[in-house]
Amino acid sequence: MRGRGILLGFAVALAASGGLVGIVFTFGARLAPAAANTRDVKSGEALYLRYCAVCHGDAGRGDGSSATGFATKPADLTDGRLMNALPDEFLVNIILRGGPAEGLSPGMPPFADFLSESQTRQLIRYLRAIAAPPFRPGMAKPLVTFPDAPRQPILFSHVVHAGSFQISCQYCHADARRSEYAGLPSVERCMGCHRIIGAQDNPEIATLHDYARRGQPIPWVRVFKVPEFTVFPHKPHVRFELACQTCHGPIERMRVVGADTGPRLVDDLVRLLGFRPPARALTMGWCVDCHREQNATRGAHAPLDCVSCHH
Ligand code: HEC
Ligand code: HEC
Ligand code: HEC
Ligand code: HEC
Ligand code: HEC
Ligand code: HEC
Repeated sequence: MRGRGILLGFAVALAASGGLVGIVFTFGARLAPAAANTRDVKSGEALYLRYCAVCHGDAGRGDGSSATGFATKPADLTDGRLMNALPDEFLVNIILRGGPAEGLSPGMPPFADFLSESQTRQLIRYLRAIAAPPFRPGMAKPLVTFPDAPRQPILFSHVVHAGSFQISCQYCHADARRSEYAGLPSVERCMGCHRIIGAQDNPEIATLHDYARRGQPIPWVRVFKVPEFTVFPHKPHVRFELACQTCHGPIERMRVVGADTGPRLVDDLVRLLGFRPPARALTMGWCVDCHREQNATRGAHAPLDCVSCHH
């Protein structure tokens, strides 16, 4: 009886000390990066005061001593609502290569001659630390790029408009809910904001103003397209609450919209071997697979007959 009691006590003590060791270990593991982070934030702050404060202000609010000289004001880098969605690679690019690298104004100069990549990362740690509402890792998801995304007539970035400024998709693609086409915004719609924003010093916005002055539509290059002999209506899909991203991917993380769609030879070969690779976007198999699935799981009435999609 007593023997067992002692044994039990020993086991409890062991478990407790094991737990303790566990705690010490995890605590240690958490402490190390935290300490490194604090060091980076400190170094970042010093770099910030040296290179950035003259325009962005001592506290980062965009009110440095040189700020008044700019038509497009230096950004308020403490505004978490705008900054938190921007991934590190976007900030690195702007800091090292200047505003125009992301379509912004050249008032934001390139610092590649003054800052190394690791110093830039320290600076970004500092910027993350001064954001309000606070920045949490995971808020800024990585950019999505496609090697063969088209060159557009204006560097229009969904990362800036839909990611950072969170302008709703349907503000610009206003027909998605009520017609076959989602539609692209007219020049007038762009000008509603850009008659003022970026009008004086951003070359991309100057190009936009040229189209407006000539009364010409912007010749955007199409990315998502089904062949002429098929019909794809947006309205029933959007009304059925399928998110745009289900079919188009995370557009708000694309500097340039691109897609990896259409049939692919490898898939056809794999199919010949008897496998069934998932259908690629914009192929007939993709439409039909989703229709079957939505009919089975969400009580949808998505058509499977030929004429609904081909007339
Ligand atoms: C000569 C003035 C000047 C200096 C120096 C400067 N900036 Fe800027 N910065 C600007 C201006 C102007 C903008 C606004 C560009 C725009 O919105 O088109 C800007 C924009 C930015 C943005 C984009 C914010 C957003 O909302 O997309 C970041 C990030 C940034 N600056 C970081 C820095 C950092 C870090 C430094 C120091 C290494 C720095 N800037 C130094 C003028 C400056
Ligand atoms: C609801 C307001 C709004 C509308 C509508 C709008 N923009 Fe913007 N746009 C902004 C804001 C805000 C910025 C960020 C400005 C800055 O920080 O310099 C911006 C930045 C830009 C930039 C520079 C950054 C980038 O995206 O490369 C370009 C170019 C641009 N807009 C083009 C357009 C075009 C083309 C349209 C129409 C298809 C359009 N915008 C519609 C608000 C708007
Ligand atoms: C400020 C206006 C604006 C906002 C907001 C906006 N877009 Fe766009 N979108 C455009 C413009 C302009 C183009 C054409 C240029 C391009 O492809 O980037 C476009 C292109 C697209 C395309 C490719 C069209 C094609 O050529 O096949 C898709 C898909 C798209 N947007 C989806 C979205 C989604 C999803 C959202 C919300 C997360 C969104 N857009 C928010 C203006 C906007
Ligand atoms: C069920 C899949 C699906 C959903 C959901 C969807 N789209 Fe599309 N989208 C497509 C297809 C397919 C095309 C090509 C249509 C064509 O070629 O006629 C397309 C084309 C587009 C285009 C190119 C111009 C046009 O009008 O055809 C834009 C812009 C666009 N979509 C934006 C959006 C936006 C914004 C949403 C959300 C409100 C959305 N889409 C939801 C599948 C979808
Ligand atoms: C992500 C899932 C999904 C994809 C991908 C998809 N659809 Fe659909 N589609 C639906 C759903 C769900 C409905 C039915 C909505 C309802 O029951 O109200 C539908 C309905 C339709 C309708 C019927 C419209 C009507 O007025 O009744 C057509 C036509 C259609 N889809 C064509 C297409 C084509 C063509 C493609 C491929 C280019 C496609 N869909 C891709 C989910 C999808
Ligand atoms: C849910 C929509 C949908 C339905 C239902 C549908 N198709 Fe299609 N079909 C498409 C789309 C989108 C394409 C174009 C993309 C592609 O070639 O994969 C296509 C392409 C095709 C092609 C051309 C293939 C090629 O390689 O060029 C043929 C032929 C075809 N469909 C026949 C049919 C027949 C026959 C039926 C009825 C048994 C049918 N489709 C039902 C959406 C549909």
